[in-house]
Amino acid sequence: MSATITAVSNLKGGVGKSTTTVMLADGLAYFYGANVLIVDLDPQANSSQMLLTERGLQMAFKQGKGVHHLLEQFTANEPPNIANLVLPNAVTLEELRLAEERDERAGWVSILPAHPQLRLTEMALEEKLYASGMAPSRLASYLAGHFSQALETLAPLYDVILLDTPPYLSPMARAGLSIASTYVTPTLADSVSIWGTKQFTDWVTTQVVPDLASRNFVVITRFKNTRYARNAETELKEIYLKDRTFGPTIPESVQALSAMDRADLDSYNSMRGKYGRLRGDVKRLAESFVNFIAKRNGTAIPEPVRS
Ligand SMILES: Nc1ncnc2c1ncn2[C@@H]1O[C@H](COP(=O)(O)OP(=O)(O)OP(=O)(O)O)[C@@H](O)[C@H]1O
Ligand SMILES: [Mg+2]
Repeated sequence: MSATITAVSNLKGGVGKSTTTVMLADGLAYFYGANVLIVDLDPQANSSQMLLTERGLQMAFKQGKGVHHLLEQFTANEPPNIANLVLPNAVTLEELRLAEERDERAGWVSILPAHPQLRLTEMALEEKLYASGMAPSRLASYLAGHFSQALETLAPLYDVILLDTPPYLSPMARAGLSIASTYVTPTLADSVSIWGTKQFTDWVTTQVVPDLASRNFVVITRFKNTRYARNAETELKEIYLKDRTFGPTIPESVQALSAMDRADLDSYNSMRGKYGRLRGDVKRLAESFVNFIAKRNGTAIPEPVRS
């Protein structure tokens, strides 16, 4: 078994990429017993912070973990050595932790975290290589080779690898897009987000994967149930992105904010406690994603391990 690599991406900022990454990771681990690795390719380090807290993020940095080391290996012309850079425990759900304690692990979340340092490491690399005449697209493709070699060694250990990407096309983000086999695109239901999402998916289709439509899983997030938003949702589903698979529409809820605000690195919450009313949305998100992947791969739809 080899992991499915999925990039969670949209060039539009603030559309819920990091929140969707964490919800999907929790949903797949909890409801389907999946072993999930999050790779945080965004120097904002939001999904890292949502799972590890800021204290955990800084600890990871001091322990020499994180994605910028993968870049440093690339800069030093070394083969990728990723195993020691991953934080194997990014679980925040009590049920998963307790099952692990009983030696009955069913579902787990690990992370290759980001840190703001990532942008500096990346800029230094860009300056060096662009000065020597390398084109940005070439750097992105070399990086993609380095990354995919790194992830190949981890692929047998995971079911799903989720790449959280920044809202711009850094070399790493481009590399991430080109090594993914499927794409989760969160978007809001408003006209500027529809416009941004359309531009982004057109760019990915022409520059990265011509058959994006069949690989694309779109999630409308932060949905406020107004007539305007319902119309925008219909436009997205029936006009602009009518050839894509849509996941559930996630409502705007303050619970999404508190769910992503872990009290401390050693505090855990139950699925119900963490997500409250959004628990059903997390379940539907995982369920429709699992269906999407099974359909693409022509495999049987897995049964949930928890309800
Ligand atoms: N369902 C929701 N209800 C309410 N707020 C939400 C919801 N989903 C996300 N948010 C909030 O919206 C903001 C943007 O979300 P998030 O950081 O996940 O987006 P992003 O696309 O990753 O942003 P960026 O482009 O900066 O990486 C955050 O403050 C987040 O807490
Ligand atoms: Mg983000």
